Amino acid sequence: MTTHWPTSGLGFGGDYNPEQWSAEVWDEDVRLMKEAGVNIVTLGVFSWGALEVADGVFEWAWLDRVIDLLHRNGIAVDLATPTASPPLWLLAAHPEILPVNADMTRRHPGARDGWCANSATFRRYALRMTKALAERYAAHPAVVLWHVSNEIGGGNRRCHCDESLAAFRGWLRLRYGSLDNLNRAWGTAFWGLHVTDWDHVPAPRGVEAHNPALVLDYDRFCSDSLLDHFRAERDAIREFAPTTPITTNFMVGPHQDVVDYPRWARHVDVVANDHYTVPTDPLSAQDIAFSADRVRGMTPGRGPWLLMEHSVSAHAWYPVNRAKAPRELVRDSLGHVARGADGALFFQWRASLRGAEQFLQGMVSHAGPDSKIGREVRELGAVLGRLAEVRGSTVAPARVALLFDNEAGWAFSRGLKPHKEIGYGDEPRAWHRALWTRNVLVDVVPPRTDLSTYDLVIVPTLFLVDDESAARVAAVARRGGVVVVTWMSGIVDHENAVRPGGYPGAFRELLGVRSEEFFPLHPGERGRLDSGATFCTWSELMDVVDAEVVARYADGPLAGGPALTRRAVGSGTAYYVSCALEPESMDEFVGQVLDDAGIEPSGGGAGLDVVRREKDGATWVFALNHGDEERRVAVKGVELVTGETVDHELVVPGREVRVVRQIR
Ligand code: GLA
Repeated sequence: MTTHWPTSGLGFGGDYNPEQWSAEVWDEDVRLMKEAGVNIVTLGVFSWGALEVADGVFEWAWLDRVIDLLHRNGIAVDLATPTASPPLWLLAAHPEILPVNADMTRRHPGARDGWCANSATFRRYALRMTKALAERYAAHPAVVLWHVSNEIGGGNRRCHCDESLAAFRGWLRLRYGSLDNLNRAWGTAFWGLHVTDWDHVPAPRGVEAHNPALVLDYDRFCSDSLLDHFRAERDAIREFAPTTPITTNFMVGPHQDVVDYPRWARHVDVVANDHYTVPTDPLSAQDIAFSADRVRGMTPGRGPWLLMEHSVSAHAWYPVNRAKAPRELVRDSLGHVARGADGALFFQWRASLRGAEQFLQGMVSHAGPDSKIGREVRELGAVLGRLAEVRGSTVAPARVALLFDNEAGWAFSRGLKPHKEIGYGDEPRAWHRALWTRNVLVDVVPPRTDLSTYDLVIVPTLFLVDDESAARVAAVARRGGVVVVTWMSGIVDHENAVRPGGYPGAFRELLGVRSEEFFPLHPGERGRLDSGATFCTWSELMDVVDAEVVARYADGPLAGGPALTRRAVGSGTAYYVSCALEPESMDEFVGQVLDDAGIEPSGGGAGLDVVRREKDGATWVFALNHGDEERRVAVKGVELVTGETVDHELVVPGREVRVVRQIR
């Protein structure tokens, strides 16, 4: 594995799709890139059809020219294997490589992601393309990073074709070894679905109420097959480019991922993420923070990662695609950098005029470089240039961890459930928001993580958890930390089987409570606790076995019953929250829990986000003001955005970002 970073300063650039433009435009592109401070572009993501124009017939001339042009102008290349979008000639010759939906309709040619990860034919063609590309450009000095495919699994996460089903059965054989093990783990006695032959194992096709254990295994299998494809392309590149870092772009957002990124992270040399804010999200700055805290939480050593794509301004895929407000572009990019990104890249360099995403803005917008976007892009390039010294630093260690797990999310979201209207990420993001509002940094980590350095661990709706992970959580409290476990946590084990004896199964003993039944609320319903707190979505009937009651249900069918509990465990504390607290009540509760854990907010709060990065004894203080009013932070040093000296107090104007190299 190679670890060197592809750019000398922070990366700045975006996806570059020159095949959509004439050669005169390329010259203008490169001139504008230099003017904006672009130092790296991602090339070739969707170029298969332009590079392999017919079966085995390669056209390299245009790409040779573009790479040379970029290199002459000092712009590095992140070269992508173009396999995310198979060419139409290939789909015409081999329609069987197109993914099959759960309803057994086959996807049509005409869009991207039209490939099945289990198709041997696709693999053969994809690897031939990958090897040809790697052989041609591996030694080119412009190519500093390789980029496998694009957002793998984004449009082809689950394929239900027969080749996939056969591969699934093979995967199950390896996992379970025998049909007896499979039958036990899946509980096939239910509905008399005992499997007597590997060839009879069903796939979660159609709209049937499939066995949740089978459905979860199919999701795991799909993640593994896609990973296998990534690794095959990666290894093909590595044959020719043994020391150049290789990555692929993840899509880490507020909900469970399409594939299990924390498990993928150790297979890439650079963890790279794509993040797009949602125009209707009133708290998109926190969405950025949550995503970045998740990416950092899965990056080995919590080291720097790369923001491979984000949006310049208006997106194209929502019902209403509003442009970003003035200053939002710069703030969004630095929001990722503050939380560990060593670069901010966009999709895409020049906005397309034609094609599906013709209304998605680019760094060169439809209006041209003399525009709000053009000015902010140039400003961002200049700011990132001035922040070059930050590269290689890491975010100052967080004292709070929040557990987030894809398998738990997949299990939580699929099949018949006590409440089908809840997204797995809703509760984790709500707890993250409460901490972010107080400016407390959180590592959002998978449950397999070593938790020994954290003082507070939040376990929100961690529906599925294995015994070892549950034990690690309990150990945090025993050694003096604070643990908060919420409703719908610890309910099933790694086989997706309910843990018997009452909820929240895996955490019952730690918390000293035992819930008997769920009382989910309908949309719009809310309830009250005797502390004055309010809740929605969820409540439950529980007994306290060995804990102190912090608040009781004040109305509804559970009136008088315990709702929030606290238990002293070793030298620490374990809280159980059996209902979905509404934001204000959660904020208050989080305040109390932070006091218990002895954690002070790190200087900002209420719309001012302050994050520190550190390297070799130096500290950079990022202050992002998401409000309109000017805010102040006590710090001394040199402010890198404006170049001003800060004596003792930094002034951050509304909607602006400042970064101080601290002097103590
Ligand atoms: C994703 C893809 C890009 C583009 C953008 C914007 O991140 O990787 O190709 O489609 O979304 O929609």
